[in-house]
Amino acid sequence: MKRVLSGIQPSGTLTIGNYLGAMKHFVELQDEADCLFCIVDLHAITVPQDPQELRHNSRSLAALYLAAGIDPKKSVLFVQSHVPAHAELGWILQCIAYYGELSRMTQFKDKASRHEVVTAGLFTYPALMAADILLYQADLVPVGEDQKQHLELTRDVAERFNSRFGETFVIPEPMIPKVGGRIMSLEDPSKKMSKSDASEGAYISMLDDPDVIRRKIMRAVTDSEREVRYDPERKPAISNLLTIFSLFSGRSIEDLEKEYHDAGYGTFKKALAEVVVEALRPIQQRYHEWMNSPDLDRVLREGAEKASALAAPTIAKVKERVGFLS
Ligand code: AMP
Ligand code: TRP
Repeated sequence: MKRVLSGIQPSGTLTIGNYLGAMKHFVELQDEADCLFCIVDLHAITVPQDPQELRHNSRSLAALYLAAGIDPKKSVLFVQSHVPAHAELGWILQCIAYYGELSRMTQFKDKASRHEVVTAGLFTYPALMAADILLYQADLVPVGEDQKQHLELTRDVAERFNSRFGETFVIPEPMIPKVGGRIMSLEDPSKKMSKSDASEGAYISMLDDPDVIRRKIMRAVTDSEREVRYDPERKPAISNLLTIFSLFSGRSIEDLEKEYHDAGYGTFKKALAEVVVEALRPIQQRYHEWMNSPDLDRVLREGAEKASALAAPTIAKVKERVGFLS
């Protein structure tokens, strides 16, 4: 069985972009692979976080993973900071990764330009992400399009380590969905949908109320011309809405084009809003159940134990290979 690992930052409520680009695929992978899913709180603190909020966001993200369908009997769900080997291997890989290659990371350049203070941790973030993946000898890493460059760096760092110290790490492959790998902002279809967007109308949060979802979709920007047609070049806004519709409803884009081609944007958006509301309804309900259940903390405790046991042989081998005293 293939080993799968992925992570999401507990830095605010997930958007439907995170769900369609990543989490939905995690749920599907559980039956065919040996999966680990991580709440990457060490990554979250690369930008300032309020301690109370971070604690809340970590539990909230765990509840959302479970509500979306991550089954703790099938997958290991855990918090990154509960497994100290992440930070240990993260440091070692900071000493393998090059300053020059980290300087080329577009996510760093983008985040650095948006924050007043830029921490050293924000810069070395990709080495920690590489540690998350390599620690478990993961074969596959399901992520959205924006993480592709970090995966390439992970592979380069793993290969460099292997050639310098002998075969130690499995070289992981990214797994990026062909459709939905990059869900765009509802207000500006040239930008990706992001939970850190200054404008709330740009994204739909997984926990938005039905009326908020309806309002955001009805206000979403559209393109010129009137027909509902998939054409990401010329009609990026409608194409993005068609992608969201297709992924939430399970219907093909062609099928949706046939039904809504001449229906007008208003009718199309109303139908889309109902599809999103109905898809999120059961997830939101289970989310609230998990948030109020002591089982949530038990799942995370057990997840940390399982993850630590899986990480132990690799971190031991790495320390031995680099020359640390045992
Ligand atoms: P993050 O919230 O940055 O930790 O991202 C969690 C996961 O969601 C990563 O795999 C991202 O690549 C993915 N993701 C984030 N934004 C989007 C988006 N707009 N469309 C598709 N996937 C996304
Ligand atoms: N960097 C990823 C993001 O911003 C989150 C992440 C951290 C991750 N560690 C990971 C994703 C390991 C996949 C595997 O979305």
